[in-house]
Amino acid sequence: MQVNLKDRIALVTGASRGIGRSISMALAQAGAHVIITSRNVEQLQKVEKEIGGNATVIPADLSAHDDVDALFDLITDREGRLDILVNNAAIGLWGHLVDFSISDFDKIIKLNVRGLYLCCQRAMKLMIPQKSGYIINISSVVGFKGYPNQSAYTASKHAVMGITKSLAVEAREHNIQVSAIQPGGVETDFAFEARPDLDPSILIKPEDIAQSVLFLLSLSDRAWVDQIYVRRRNGTPFVGV
Ligand SMILES: NC(=O)c1ccc[n+]([C@@H]2O[C@H](COP(=O)([O-])OP(=O)(O)OC[C@H]3O[C@@H](n4cnc5c(N)ncnc54)[C@H](OP(=O)(O)O)[C@@H]3O)[C@@H](O)[C@H]2O)c1
Repeated sequence: MQVNLKDRIALVTGASRGIGRSISMALAQAGAHVIITSRNVEQLQKVEKEIGGNATVIPADLSAHDDVDALFDLITDREGRLDILVNNAAIGLWGHLVDFSISDFDKIIKLNVRGLYLCCQRAMKLMIPQKSGYIINISSVVGFKGYPNQSAYTASKHAVMGITKSLAVEAREHNIQVSAIQPGGVETDFAFEARPDLDPSILIKPEDIAQSVLFLLSLSDRAWVDQIYVRRRNGTPFVGV
């Protein structure tokens, strides 16, 4: 796929492993300078090395408002701009709603919804004066479906869709494009925990999600795609969409 992101500044959250790592590598390969963030500095430094040259590590716990502010203050000071934000960081905790811990519910919402919301807010403040930018939110198939054992996580991904839809309308007048990608099961530690019933060899590859991000960024200034649902090949087509 032909996409030239030379001189673009991108921020990928949850970049230390899994899908975020793949997206960061793909953006850097396309020429962007990628700011990679998550909590685990050592893991981020490994990804920085793999990328080689075109990455900056800024650690942050995105469930903490102060950390989100510190991350964006640094980006503002060092780069003065942000062209691409990929909101990918999220956690999942599993169990039936009837006895699900409310503190676990709060942990999920604090990162997956509030953290993402805060990142959108700060990114918009940089992008509005530029009159350009892309915000891509990694939602999930549970952004439109419901799975057992996943009520809190499912609520968070429905909320991500709500934020994405409203922001997409608000951002349009500033020439900022906002999208959601909704993957089914992807081959990461996260999926092995969430869906131990699935055979890892049939899971989507993290690189497939990275390609979806590049696809969005490759579109001309005449076209945009609001959401991309990526399903496992052995899943049923057109379920719930
Ligand atoms: N894998 C799937 O089947 C699947 C399917 C649909 C959607 N998704 C979505 O895809 C995204 C990535 O998932 P994944 O499978 O790659 O998960 P993963 O391997 O568990 O990676 C999650 C990332 O989020 C970071 N993170 C966790 N808590 C954080 C916090 N408080 N502050 C900042 N960063 C934090 C982690 O890094 P640290 O631990 O270093 O902080 C890690 O880099 C998520 O939004 C997930 O909901 C995944």
